[in-house]
Amino acid sequence: MLQVHKRFGHIPLLQGIDLHVPRGTALGIIGPAASGKSVILKLLCGLIPIDRGDIQIDGDSIVGLSEEQLMPLRRRIGMLFQNFALFDFMTVAENVSFPLVQRGGMSGQEIADRVGDRLRKVGLAGSEDKMPSQLSGGMKRRVGIARATIARPDIAIYDEPSAGLDPVTAAKIYDLLRADQRETGSTVIAVSSDVVALSAFADRIAMLFEGRIHYEGPAGEIRDADDPVVRQFVRGELHGPL
Ligand SMILES: Nc1ncnc2c1ncn2[C@@H]1O[C@H](COP(=O)(O)OP(=O)(O)OP(=O)(O)O)[C@@H](O)[C@H]1O
Ligand SMILES: [Mg+2]
Repeated sequence: MLQVHKRFGHIPLLQGIDLHVPRGTALGIIGPAASGKSVILKLLCGLIPIDRGDIQIDGDSIVGLSEEQLMPLRRRIGMLFQNFALFDFMTVAENVSFPLVQRGGMSGQEIADRVGDRLRKVGLAGSEDKMPSQLSGGMKRRVGIARATIARPDIAIYDEPSAGLDPVTAAKIYDLLRADQRETGSTVIAVSSDVVALSAFADRIAMLFEGRIHYEGPAGEIRDADDPVVRQFVRGELHGPL
């Protein structure tokens, strides 16, 4: 549950966002560039503070918690950042295993097996010893996805999981994310510019526009929505209210 206002300097970015994501469901968020989609995801993890409102996870507010108090929450969340946020000084295997190592309680062999499995599932089998600087943008994104999903988090947050991937690879990634979600029963929030893929993946779609959730509905209905803003956005039309 998220009800927030957020401004940077004098510019109000989010003016009363109101979102509720039932446990075990997937919400897709769409919206114009720079409308605040990534900011919403960062607010949810407590990475940036809100100005006003509340963010509750399983009924508990996370607003005003210290970094230390946020730790247990962060361990439950698997997050793919839009810019991947890989550690450049770590190998692919070290990056991917990071959430498991942090959580503790697994042997080196178990971790290596899980890393190998995840890398295979994102189409990067055998890339364990590569460094991020040796990877293409799409490969880094897939490493980010492997890292976000390896600990089977019960909350998964994906910022543009398919950006920069070819259509077949993108479809495979969404397939994997969906399979993961079915298996773990996780709650998922994903931002994507690929409305078609996102609406096939998510249960519901919300559109952020001018600081508010302008539209929210079942994913299957977004392409037929009557709202002129949604219509123009989803169809990529040049003329309209946007
Ligand atoms: N930490 C910050 N400090 C100041 N301004 C910020 C900060 N983070 C984001 N912004 C501003 O907030 C606005 C929304 O940013 P955000 O990254 O959420 O956009 P977005 O909807 O994810 O866009 P895109 O589709 O391009 O990824 C932008 O104008 C950005 O410059
Ligand atoms: Mg973004």
